[in-house]
Amino acid sequence: MSIFNEDFLWGGAIAANQYEGGYQEGGKGLGPVDLLPNKDENRVHVMYHPELAMKEKFNYYPSHQAIDGYHYFKEDIAMFAEMGFKCLRMSVSWPRIFPNGDEETPNEAGLKFYDELFDECLKYNIEPVVTLNHFDTPIYLYEKYDGWTNRKLIDFFVRYASVMFNRYKGKVKYWLTFNEINILQVLPFLGGSFDPEKFENPLQTKYQAAHHQLVASALATKLAREIDPANKIGCMLAAGEAYPNTCNPNDIWAAKMLDREGFFFIDVQVRGKYPSYSRRFFEEQQLEIKQEKEDAEILKNTVDFIGFSYYSTKVVSADEQVLSSSEKTDGNIFSSLENPYLPKSEWGWIIDPMGLRITMNTLYDRYQVPLFVVENGLGAVDKPNEAGIIEDDYRINYLSEHIQAVGEAVKDGVEVWGYTPWGCIDIISAGTGQMSKRYGFIYVDLDDNGVGSFKRSKKASFDWYKQVIASNGEKVGRNNDEF
Ligand code: BG6
Repeated sequence: MSIFNEDFLWGGAIAANQYEGGYQEGGKGLGPVDLLPNKDENRVHVMYHPELAMKEKFNYYPSHQAIDGYHYFKEDIAMFAEMGFKCLRMSVSWPRIFPNGDEETPNEAGLKFYDELFDECLKYNIEPVVTLNHFDTPIYLYEKYDGWTNRKLIDFFVRYASVMFNRYKGKVKYWLTFNEINILQVLPFLGGSFDPEKFENPLQTKYQAAHHQLVASALATKLAREIDPANKIGCMLAAGEAYPNTCNPNDIWAAKMLDREGFFFIDVQVRGKYPSYSRRFFEEQQLEIKQEKEDAEILKNTVDFIGFSYYSTKVVSADEQVLSSSEKTDGNIFSSLENPYLPKSEWGWIIDPMGLRITMNTLYDRYQVPLFVVENGLGAVDKPNEAGIIEDDYRINYLSEHIQAVGEAVKDGVEVWGYTPWGCIDIISAGTGQMSKRYGFIYVDLDDNGVGSFKRSKKASFDWYKQVIASNGEKVGRNNDEF
């Protein structure tokens, strides 16, 4: 008997800005990612300096064609169906629906694309799990309104959400409002289409923008329920427990503080009000968040579940000397001190399956609402063998260990709705813009400069994951032996 529920949602995850391409087709407007070059042209630096994104001309913009999902989606969904996907997590491109973001009426051509995309999923009984904003606030809103720093964005977002909920009533039941909402603190251009450095107090600006997103998320949650009580709405956190570097209480506190930076957002989305610790933080940082009198009531519209991404844990120290003299390693959004107990990916991300179990237990202890693992995976270089097959045992190992960790969390009593590994088909990397950082079960013939045939082919992990799903998570071992 499987430890996973019969209706457990096995699937995969992609996002419009990394999958679709067709960046101007059907009247689509631009999003922040459409202005970002690839790694060789200093993508990360540009992300932190949006003025460069707006002014400079780069040689290559990976999102413009991405993997051309705009034209290939039927073929791709057929392959997902062959693996037995029960769900597909994807995002809608806001600028495909409202090219500028502040229009009164949506772009019908954009909606037609998603009509077809969702229908194609439903044809195979694949449940769409849809993120409304995955790094995709229209760039026009950056130019005209300074993005989410402006309260007007709430209305624009709610209008967009309302169009989606009405149009896809009965077709889409699972929604996430903002992807990795806590990314706003670190990469506000991606998370909120604004540049905090343009303002006198950047920290204040970020928390003001966060407030607007939290109100918008709560209003969308309310609306989704009014339009269709069957809707299930989730928040989405870039998760991964912070470990103290030592048992020095100062390190323990530093780790707790770092975790709270992320929890701050979902504390509001799950509990319906600002957390008690935020008062001291706002006072000490001398931040004054402007709130309207109706906001407290609006925030009470809390989510049904917590979606989260998990790639690694991070190690934190309170000791300035340790921080300045120690090696750091990369991770999703946050960097970390090295963890001597754990291996790392080729991109330096710490690999920690036990950390997933710990993170899930922390989230469930704290909130007691169902969890949905909406991103997890290994970015790796894949090389075909002599027969032209990609034997991605490293990916199978990674996913196998992480699925087992989810299973352990289930046994610990955590309620989990589903598991959607990131980049189930190779897509461009959000962080680096590379194609060579591959996560998929399906290989896409395309290189870092966008050259290739776009041909899709199965990796060894394709059949492995198919067995995992067919056995409802029982046969997760490397050779599909039992859990
Ligand atoms: C998450 C994002 O931060 O991590 C995805 O939601 C992203 O969009 C994923 O692709 C993996 O990061 P990267 O940089 O390897 O693509």
